[in-house]
Amino acid sequence: YSLLHHNTFGMDVRTAHFVEYESVEELCAFLKQKNYELPLLHIGRGSNLLFSGDYQGTVLHSLIKGYEVVSETSDTVDVRVGAGEVWDDFVAYTVQKNLYGAVNLSLIPGEVGASAVQNIGAYGVEAKDLIVSVDTVCVSTGELRQFSNEECCYAYRKSIFKQELKGKYIVTHVTYRLSKVPVWHLDYGNIRTELDKASCPLTLDNLRRIIIRIREEKLPDPAQMGNAGSFFMNPVIPKKQFADLQSIYTDMPSYPASEDCVKVPAGWMIDRCGWKGKSLGRAGVHARQALVLVNLGGATGKEIMALAEAVVASVKEKFGIDIHPEVNYI
Ligand code: EPU
Repeated sequence: YSLLHHNTFGMDVRTAHFVEYESVEELCAFLKQKNYELPLLHIGRGSNLLFSGDYQGTVLHSLIKGYEVVSETSDTVDVRVGAGEVWDDFVAYTVQKNLYGAVNLSLIPGEVGASAVQNIGAYGVEAKDLIVSVDTVCVSTGELRQFSNEECCYAYRKSIFKQELKGKYIVTHVTYRLSKVPVWHLDYGNIRTELDKASCPLTLDNLRRIIIRIREEKLPDPAQMGNAGSFFMNPVIPKKQFADLQSIYTDMPSYPASEDCVKVPAGWMIDRCGWKGKSLGRAGVHARQALVLVNLGGATGKEIMALAEAVVASVKEKFGIDIHPEVNYI
């Protein structure tokens, strides 16, 4: 079974076992019967994966769909969404229903299940800001378990499902809380400037259009050039180290991370190392956003990994900072 259309890097890799399921019952039955090839790999759209070769094991994919309003107050609506729904379809749904909270996460590739595992984020909002609870199935027992937002241990691009409980639970549904009253997050980067430039009223529809335009300008369309969005996470460094660096690189940007630390954009550092638009074999650093590595056509996973290693080494040498892939190597 070809995984070409199940990974946005466009790797033509294969697996002998590909299983899709449409309901929680079907998934539980599959897990309980226990006669599948190990290891298990659960994927969404494959927008955060890099395969180094064929997959020896079983690849699972959710086709659990649907939106259900599970509770409502005068100010909020809780919507429970199937893990197999496309993330951006959900964002479009919230905008259409005039619900606030998710619009900054427009056009992020991937599915609803992954939003809860990965804590996807953009333009000052993270999935964790919306998530009320996550419904899962335990891989080893086939039993259902619901995690509250706190139990998911969310942090920047992190959750319990990527750390301590990695591979142990499969997300079936995610419940998000949206606001019926206006809540805007406009302070990230150039959002305000773009809104002013467009001189359009502040509405969910208009903000969605602007976020989509910003993303389309910087991020390559996987249908045209294989990629997995940000290849690296933005490193979090102590404020003291940042101050020292800023005395050399006066225009070095940063974002607040905690009381003692700041987050610095890896893309900016990679750009400063001169990598933007450069390539190594058939693997390239995107010309408009250095945080994105691209498949220039026919690259293998190993070629992308070799470029990533070279980039990591340059950043370490120039800035003394270790950067780590956000993309999962498989
Ligand atoms: N920058 C450069 N050169 C570059 C890239 C960036 O100088 O080649 C500078 C920008 O000018 C800006 C700063 O670095 O001052 C940050 O850039 P940007 O706003 O594009 O965001 P980012 O930190 O590179 C993060 C997320 C993105 C998300 C954007 C917007 C991570 C790993 N990435 O990127 O997420 O869309 O912020 O919120 O945190 C993704 O995860 O796939 C993804 C695209």
